Amino acid sequence: MAETINLKLKIWRQKNASIAGRFEIYDMQGVSTHMSFLEMLDVLNERLIRESKEPVAFDHDCREGICGMCSMYINGRAHGPLKGTTTCQLHMRHFKDGETVTIEPWRAAAFPVIKDLVVDRSAFENIIQAGGYVSVNTGNAPDANSIPIEKAKAEEAFDAAACIGCGACVAVCKNASAMLFLSANVSQLALLPQGEPERNLRVLSMVKAHDEAGFGACTNTGACEAECPKEISISHIARLNREYIRAATNEK
Ligand code: SF4
Ligand code: FES
Repeated sequence: MAETINLKLKIWRQKNASIAGRFEIYDMQGVSTHMSFLEMLDVLNERLIRESKEPVAFDHDCREGICGMCSMYINGRAHGPLKGTTTCQLHMRHFKDGETVTIEPWRAAAFPVIKDLVVDRSAFENIIQAGGYVSVNTGNAPDANSIPIEKAKAEEAFDAAACIGCGACVAVCKNASAMLFLSANVSQLALLPQGEPERNLRVLSMVKAHDEAGFGACTNTGACEAECPKEISISHIARLNREYIRAATNEK
């Protein structure tokens, strides 16, 4: 494997939401194949700052696949070419010498561009605030094993809880639907006894917040599951639909 490669970066630049954006081309020589994708962007930005040019704005925080901040489209794929991988976990050895790499922000009406590759994902916060929590009276923490939960349910809830709120499911959906994100957050609590007291109110409120934010409806194309970096299953969307019908008809 080559130690370094040369790339042409085609990056979306946009000053703010009210000014039209455009692609700009940057030649990158001698990119180490051991670098992460974000480190490669750091190198570009250091160069732009040395040249007294505006660095490329992009979101990042943990750089280890946990926080969901590093959201961008790379060569037409959310988080780049690898399955089950966030942008910060992507390394330059997966690109070819001489390749043109196109980098864009998430494109969805509910995620307006703030600057360059950074979008406003506060619509996700609004959905969580509508019910993605359990109300727990303060006091001593109960022993971990005081509420028995069957293993299969605990594991399914844990899989749903792996959602990092990155927004890739919205960006890849032709309807810009956030149903995978929404379902992961409804499902994990619907599976656990701790979620039972607020179960009906939660799903009704969260679906309302989803629709009010301008996210589209789900038409079961499955692009969200295919591109989710945490490989969240669309079976959670099926559970969300069941939870919603149950709550709307006030079944017990
Ligand atoms: S469901 Fe997957 S793609 Fe959607 S926000 Fe959660 S981790 Fe990201
Ligand atoms: S920077 Fe946190 S998941 Fe990528």
